[in-house]
Amino acid sequence: MLRNIFKPTAGFRRAAHDLKREFRIQRLHRAALKRVRRYSGNNLRLNVGCGKNIKQGWINIDLSKEADLQLDVREPLPFASESASMVYSEHFFEHLEYPD
Ligand SMILES: C[S@@+](CC[C@H](N)C(=O)[O-])C[C@H]1O[C@@H](n2cnc3c(N)ncnc32)[C@H](O)[C@@H]1O
Repeated sequence: MLRNIFKPTAGFRRAAHDLKREFRIQRLHRAALKRVRRYSGNNLRLNVGCGKNIKQGWINIDLSKEADLQLDVREPLPFASESASMVYSEHFFEHLEYPD
């Protein structure tokens, strides 16, 4: 019945799918922000967009469950200025949409 009244276009379905994904990412990001103090200090080593490539002795950041912190790295990273001595990333930046 509803389908006869409201037939979502492919574009609408895509937008709804993206919005659902953004809700999930926001929930993960906010939960990670509550745990970030555990990783404060100097000389931090950040593995950004780590995926399953977990590095020992590093703070592994990704949306995946393997990460130490499930942060959305499109947002400012919640670490103090000059607290990181190394930032590592591989096969990651191409997964961000340009220009946002
Ligand atoms: C191709 S994988 C690379 C993983 C790893 N660096 C490697 O080389 O095997 C890209 C990763 O980017 C992560 N990613 C995509 N968008 C992200 C975002 N906004 N914030 C954090 N991680 C993100 C994905 O979860 C995925 O694990």
